[in-house]
Amino acid sequence: MGKRILKSLVVSFLLVVCLILYLTNQNYSQAKYKYIGVEKCAKLCHRGEKKGSQLEIWEETTHSKSFVTLATPYAKKILKSLGDEGEPQKSEKCLQCHSTGYGLDESNFDKTFKIEEGVTCEACHGPGSVYKSLSIMKDKEKFLANGGIISTEKECLKCHNNKGHEVYEFNFDERSKKIAHLIPKK
Ligand code: HEC
Ligand code: HEC
Ligand code: HEC
Repeated sequence: MGKRILKSLVVSFLLVVCLILYLTNQNYSQAKYKYIGVEKCAKLCHRGEKKGSQLEIWEETTHSKSFVTLATPYAKKILKSLGDEGEPQKSEKCLQCHSTGYGLDESNFDKTFKIEEGVTCEACHGPGSVYKSLSIMKDKEKFLANGGIISTEKECLKCHNNKGHEVYEFNFDERSKKIAHLIPKK
């Protein structure tokens, strides 16, 4: 009797240890999907008129300048108005919307990721380290199963809100048109 209880205790203990190891591994060791930066998305595929000029369009919109913006005296003034004398380019109060993946563990970022790129492709489409491979990218289901995101209004509103400072009202249809970069139909 006593032996049997001891045995089940040992087994439960081991199961708990395994579970803890599994969970910590999930959260802390290696992120499954990493942010890889704009260059990786654009170099081979997403540039040029035939493909839909994703790179060129992004470069023209302020999403690509949202980190640089934080170096202006105006940006400093905004941060100061929140009672903070620090540098906007180093402040969580600004970077949470003016950069990509802010606040995540270091393991979520590949060496090629650059914070200077601001609000990048991956801010709206998810971290691309796995879905970037052509065989996954070509297949929408696979893209979505491997970290890919199709951005909807919900994604935009994570940043387009008044939590940092006053912003213009966000009309999804209008604003999406301003950044539109669909692949041209053949
Ligand atoms: C990670 C935060 C973030 C997300 C997500 C985001 N935006 Fe933005 N967006 C910004 C910031 C910050 C700016 C202003 C950058 C600046 O002026 O430096 C901006 C600017 C814009 C502009 C003005 C561009 C221009 O060149 O005038 C448009 C349009 C826009 N966003 C549309 C969208 C749409 C549509 C979505 C969702 C599909 C979206 N944004 C998602 C942060 C974000
Ligand atoms: C909750 C998200 C969010 C936070 C936090 C945030 N911003 Fe912004 N910021 C935006 C968006 C969105 C825009 C684009 C304005 C628009 O489309 O209405 C923007 C635009 C700007 C601009 C461009 C000029 C303008 O007013 O259009 C500056 C400068 C700026 N932000 C500075 C800052 C600074 C400095 C901080 C930190 C104190 C900060 N932002 C924090 C979302 C944010
Ligand atoms: C501010 C958010 C945002 C940013 C930044 C952004 N996209 Fe998009 N992208 C969208 C939205 C919204 C759509 C339309 C819905 C969809 O298909 O995901 C879209 C569509 C696309 C499509 C077309 C899919 C199709 O079926 O036609 C491609 C390819 C794409 N984006 C690649 C990129 C690349 C590459 C970058 C960076 C150079 C980028 N996007 C930057 C929001 C964004």
